[in-house]
Amino acid sequence: MSAKPRLTVLGTGYLGATHAICMAVLGYEVLGIDTDAAKIAALSDGRVPFYEPGLPEMLRKALDSGRLRFSTDIAEAGGFGDVHFICVGTPQAADSPAADLRYVDQVVSSLAPHLTRPCLVVGKSTVPVGTAARLTSMLQSSAPAGTAVELAWNPEFLREGFAVEDTMRPDRLVFGVSSPWALSVLESAFAPLLEASVPVVVTDLPTAELVKVAANSFLATKISFINAMAEVCETTGADVQQLAASLSYDPRIGGRFLRPGLGFGGGCLPKDIRAFIHRADELGVGQAVSFLREVDAINQRRRQRTVDLIRAQAGGSLAGVTVCALGAAFKPDSDDIRDAPALDVARLLVAEGAIVRVYDPQAMDNARRAYPDLHYADSVAEAATGAQVVALLTEWDQFRELDPEWLGDYVAVRNIVDGRHALDPTTWRQASWDYRALGRAA
Ligand SMILES: NC(=O)c1ccc[n+]([C@@H]2O[C@H](COP(=O)([O-])OP(=O)(O)OC[C@H]3O[C@@H](n4cnc5c(N)ncnc54)[C@H](O)[C@@H]3O)[C@@H](O)[C@H]2O)c1
Repeated sequence: MSAKPRLTVLGTGYLGATHAICMAVLGYEVLGIDTDAAKIAALSDGRVPFYEPGLPEMLRKALDSGRLRFSTDIAEAGGFGDVHFICVGTPQAADSPAADLRYVDQVVSSLAPHLTRPCLVVGKSTVPVGTAARLTSMLQSSAPAGTAVELAWNPEFLREGFAVEDTMRPDRLVFGVSSPWALSVLESAFAPLLEASVPVVVTDLPTAELVKVAANSFLATKISFINAMAEVCETTGADVQQLAASLSYDPRIGGRFLRPGLGFGGGCLPKDIRAFIHRADELGVGQAVSFLREVDAINQRRRQRTVDLIRAQAGGSLAGVTVCALGAAFKPDSDDIRDAPALDVARLLVAEGAIVRVYDPQAMDNARRAYPDLHYADSVAEAATGAQVVALLTEWDQFRELDPEWLGDYVAVRNIVDGRHALDPTTWRQASWDYRALGRAA
């Protein structure tokens, strides 16, 4: 294997496309593989098939360098790669809280027959602890190169919206390895980041698998903690924003992820904590993480509570009420609508008879595809026209910067529920809006 290994990236979704593109920009020869021919055609053509700030420019740079190409043919990966990164999805199973590992299993079983020389397969997908051990046996029993094929785990911590920055300058790298050889290969595969002094934790496979779910469990817990405080504030008349601000001055607590509101969603946190609970139950240590059930429940309750606020503003019933829903993506600077709280709220409103008009700066196509029954508007103004309640559900800058007078000219009634604590209540109230937010007095 050369000093600069050739890399394959298996699965070119949010994680894999970013990883493939950034590694090529960092100087590696990279082959990206996906079973989705449309995705591969778009990437080959210089188009990123999802919204991620800065990534289209990086893709152009990587393609121009001649170091990056894409294919749907996994046989090519075997011949090409010294290091194969597994970046396929691990969604929640349809019928249980467990992770659905079918894509991971498929990619490993389709890659293995093409591994005829020593190489390292590196898992980046988020998986239940113990998966790497199982995949190692799968790989070594079906790869022609046998035990010369090793498996390592390198969990990924990138955040959508900051994916390029997080890949080019990660907070840390975690290398889960079973041999010094695997470690040396990973060091070659991440040499530019190690030279830039990115901290590295070298550990075993189960620890590397656990790091990711532990990190997401902690973050989810922090969000649900402040949202639990919001629930208490709602019945006591206390103000959760001031509570959060006061807590955040304590450096042991810190202010990040301590923002109350509609809670977390997306393709990671919700399914990762559920899969963790499930896996811990399987392992007989369910009690250790049973608090995550409550973390999930608090988070889900925020969605219904947002609907309650909107209903209250509408006068007690949502039947026939026009609601302007600002936001569909699970967070700003992303078009990802997986388990998006905004769309859940929109659907709950519709279920109670509201007429909901959704607008999002980037996630409209995904939302339309997933929920064709909702109404969509092409602009904030169109969504707001004649609305009896405006609900801010994803905190895009475009919504944070809205002028209350400007918006007030479009709506029928100046009612706003700020599901993300993104607006200044004083400014909006001064413009005669009835401003409400979770955990704050009306
Ligand atoms: N999205 C994030 O911000 C993020 C961050 C950290 C970790 N993760 C983890 O990374 C993994 C991938 O997440 P994602 O958001 O990129 O998912 P995604 O759904 O956007 O992408 C997965 C890709 O894998 C492809 N795929 C499925 N089976 C395949 C196969 N057999 N061969 C080749 N390609 C195949 C799919 O077509 C899809 O393009 C998950 O485990 C997730 O939990 C995601």
